[in-house]
Amino acid sequence: MTIVQSLFYAYLDEGLLPLTGYNPYHMHDYPHAAFTAFMVDDEVHGMDRGGLALQEIMFFENFASFIKPSNCLVIGNSLGWSTVATALAFGDAKVVGVDNNPNRNGLDLTNRIFEKLKLKGGAVFGESPNDLERVCSENLDGPVDFVLIDAIHNNTAIVSDFNGVNAIAAPECVYLFHDVINYKMIEGFKSIIRDSGLDGRLLTKTTSGMGVAYSKSVVSQEFVDYVTMFSDDPEIFKNYRYMIGQVADEMNGLYDEFQ
Ligand SMILES: C[S@@+](CC[C@H](N)C(=O)[O-])C[C@H]1O[C@@H](n2cnc3c(N)ncnc32)[C@H](O)[C@@H]1O
Repeated sequence: MTIVQSLFYAYLDEGLLPLTGYNPYHMHDYPHAAFTAFMVDDEVHGMDRGGLALQEIMFFENFASFIKPSNCLVIGNSLGWSTVATALAFGDAKVVGVDNNPNRNGLDLTNRIFEKLKLKGGAVFGESPNDLERVCSENLDGPVDFVLIDAIHNNTAIVSDFNGVNAIAAPECVYLFHDVINYKMIEGFKSIIRDSGLDGRLLTKTTSGMGVAYSKSVVSQEFVDYVTMFSDDPEIFKNYRYMIGQVADEMNGLYDEFQ
C-alpha cells in the first residue's frame, strides 16, 4: 500500500476524515484548500494549522526513497499528519514530532497512531528552538539526520528553528521547510542557505512552495535530480507568473460561464 493511503486510513480509523488536496479554484479561492484539515462528526478541525497537502505527501513519499535517515524530527506536530507520514516513509527510522500547543490532544492522537501502526518514536510537548536538544536526546537514538520545519511561519522563526536543529544535527541532515513561498519566508530560507553553506532548492512546484537544504557532498545525484525537478530557474518562474497574471482575469471569466 502507498504511504499516502496508509496515512489516510490511519486517521480514518481514529474517526478523522482527512480533507486535503483541493484545488482552491474549486473552493471559493480559499488559499489553504489544498492543505490538510479533518472532519470529525460534521465539524472541521485543524483548518487554522493545515497539515501538508495531499500532493506534498505524494512528493514526500518519493523524496523519502532517495535518503535513509535514522533519526527524524518534525518541528510543528499539530495533529501528527506529517509526523506519521515521516515515520511511514522512513520505516526503519525513529521519528519525534514536537509541538508547544498546551492542548495535548494532537500529541495523544499522534501517539495512538504510532502505537497502532507500530511506528518507532512518537510526539512530545516542547518548544522550538529551546527544547530541541532535550527532545532529541530523550527521544532519538543519535543526531538528527532528517527534519521537517513547520512551526511558526515567519523569517525570524524558520532561521531560529533551523539554527536550533542544525546545532545538534548530523552533517548529512536533510532539512525540509514547509510553506516557504506561501508564508513569504524566501528571505529566511535564502539566508539559511547562505550562512550554513548547505545547498538548497526552493520547491516551486510543491503546493506550499517548500524549501529543502542539504549537504551536496553526502546526498546522491538522484536525490539532487529529484528536488531540482520540483524547482525552477527563478527568472523562468517570474516570467511565467507574470504571463499568468496577464491572462488570469480573462480565463477566470471564461470558466465562470461553465459553473
Ligand atoms: C502548521 S502547524 C503544523 C502542521 C503539521 N506539520 C502537519 O503537517 O500536520 C504548526 C504547528 O506548530 C506548532 N508550533 C508553533 N510554534 C512552535 C514552537 N516554537 N515550537 C513547537 N511547536 C510550535 C503549533 O502549535 C502548530 O501545531
